[in-house]
Amino acid sequence: MTITITSRPRRNRVSDSIRSLVRENSLQVTDLIMPLFIIEGNNIQQPVESMPGISRLSLDLIVKECQTLHQLGVPAVVLFPALDDARKDTRASESVNADGLYQRTIAAIKATVPEMTVMTDVAMDPYSSDGHDGYVTENGVIDNDITLPILAEMSVSQARAGADVIAPSDMMDGRVGYIREALDAAGYTHVGILAYSAKFASAFYGPFRDALESAPKHGDKKTYQMDPANVKEAIRETLLDIDEGADMVMVKPGLPYLDVIRAVSEVSEVPVAVYNVSGEYAMVKAAGMNGWIDYKKVVLETLLGFKRAGASMILTYHAKEAAEWLNE
Ligand code: PBG
Repeated sequence: MTITITSRPRRNRVSDSIRSLVRENSLQVTDLIMPLFIIEGNNIQQPVESMPGISRLSLDLIVKECQTLHQLGVPAVVLFPALDDARKDTRASESVNADGLYQRTIAAIKATVPEMTVMTDVAMDPYSSDGHDGYVTENGVIDNDITLPILAEMSVSQARAGADVIAPSDMMDGRVGYIREALDAAGYTHVGILAYSAKFASAFYGPFRDALESAPKHGDKKTYQMDPANVKEAIRETLLDIDEGADMVMVKPGLPYLDVIRAVSEVSEVPVAVYNVSGEYAMVKAAGMNGWIDYKKVVLETLLGFKRAGASMILTYHAKEAAEWLNE
């Protein structure tokens, strides 16, 4: 029997060089943003148990890590503070301490590695005795409008310390516009906003909350973080944030939400970031450590998947190792 095949897609896959010519997407070191956990002290490296390979670092070691990341070509870091309970209260007061760990760290990085873009997280949870991203009233309700000025002051304090990009991760309504206005009024018109626009109430944040000991003391985050079932709402949230002045928007988590990245990137006029979160890191790392998967290949394939879905930047705990591999 004669075989007549009119279309042979395999011709475009015959060699490395042909494959490189027809490749539609690529992963570069310049796509990566490394999240870092900061603790008080000197020369302290405290491994996060549920995230093998990731540690909480004291300021001096964070600065060194930023130098290394810069040498590897990683353009940005995003910082998270792990604070003692003694520093936490209901109003997240420590978040505006000009001498606080967070502010000192931002300033130290910018003084040593000025080329590194320093992104900061804005939400009450690392500083809150309630472990919530917003202000908790006596009735246990998360009060949106009481929270906004707290977030705005936190943002201005971070900008004053030298932050390049403010990233509100709290999911309160109207916070992007409110923060933008506060930054502008304080003279920080050049400081950008990366809005966590479509942030879902996800179980994949577990290891992160271990790292910061920031899990909610009561209740969950479902009245502000999104229902994992919704994609239209993700578009609505994104468009609102863009309208309020977001320079970049984010979808979070990453892997179970690739369709949301696609949908958001199709309507967004600003660059879309994805957060490949702690639980995603932990799963891949654990399988790799057990020898069940080829860790390096799985990580690079995962990160490329985010690009294909429409993300232009990736917050990932794999950033350092991926940068090392991409530079090989
Ligand atoms: C807090 C915040 C969280 C993450 C980033 N900022 C946790 C949460 O919302 O409970 C999660 C990051 C990760 O899991 O890697 N506003």
